[in-house]
Amino acid sequence: MQSLLLDNFQIINNRYRVIRLLSRGGEGYIYLVQDSLNNNQICVAKQMYLGQNDLYGIEKDYQVFAGLFHPNIVQLLDFFWDNGVFFVIMNYVAGETMKDFLRKQGQPLDEVKTLNWALKLAHVLRFLHNRPNPIFHADIAPENIVITPNQELVIIDFGIARSGFEAVGLREGYSAPEQMDGILDPSCDVYSLGATMYKCLTLKDPIGPSADPRLENPKVSPRTAELIKKTTAKSKTALFGFVKLRYANMDEFIEAVHECFISGKA
Ligand SMILES: Nc1ncnc2c1ncn2[C@@H]1O[C@H](COP(=O)(O)OP(=O)(O)OP(=O)(O)O)[C@@H](O)[C@H]1O
Ligand SMILES: [Mg+2]
Repeated sequence: MQSLLLDNFQIINNRYRVIRLLSRGGEGYIYLVQDSLNNNQICVAKQMYLGQNDLYGIEKDYQVFAGLFHPNIVQLLDFFWDNGVFFVIMNYVAGETMKDFLRKQGQPLDEVKTLNWALKLAHVLRFLHNRPNPIFHADIAPENIVITPNQELVIIDFGIARSGFEAVGLREGYSAPEQMDGILDPSCDVYSLGATMYKCLTLKDPIGPSADPRLENPKVSPRTAELIKKTTAKSKTALFGFVKLRYANMDEFIEAVHECFISGKA
């Protein structure tokens, strides 16, 4: 495919001036830009390579994302096609990704802090799931969460997020297996959140049959290890749906996190 790398100072959509490249994302380049129509506000422009199958519904979904206002979610400001490329403009979130933070720290995150972060993210995801048109992020992982200088968590990267129950992509180790079959529902984000907790507590990506953090980090309490195992169960149910293996939604997950606090370490 022809390179779409834009030059500094290039103008996108007659409005956004490229300042510099910010990141090479999985789906396209990401730039820091200046909005010439809005006090030269600094924002982020993300190019998205879209396959023919992705085109359907993308604008409808981004219309829904643009209507979201939440302090812990990146604000989508604009989206458009320019020279056949889909661009998303969002606010610039200062800070570092959770992935970079964990790498720099070099040791597992404290269990109580991990539980607190999970709780915070679960509330944000519940806000998305409970919208009139439910939104599933579908790609919760340490590289898609920014820790701001105020220690707030902001969810970025709505690249494969969808308003609706159809998955369009997945991330190995972090996505629920059913996303491979195109299925998306609240428990998919539950799974990814559990996988993210596993990474925080072990610094390892949760690839393998079972995400038991105690096998990598014996300091993790049995209660929290059980929570993560249940959160990342490969199947949602067993015995024709009669036995629940994974938390079905954020409400169930949040309740279980609170039980971890009550029963132990917090
Ligand atoms: N709104 C933003 N504010 C600040 N930094 C951002 C923003 N959006 C993206 N980034 C930076 O660019 C990186 C890649 O962005 P994003 O996750 O949206 O793209 P991606 O194509 O999924 O890339 P990847 O495959 O690495 O996840 C992020 O990890 C982050 O460092
Ligand atoms: Mg990303």
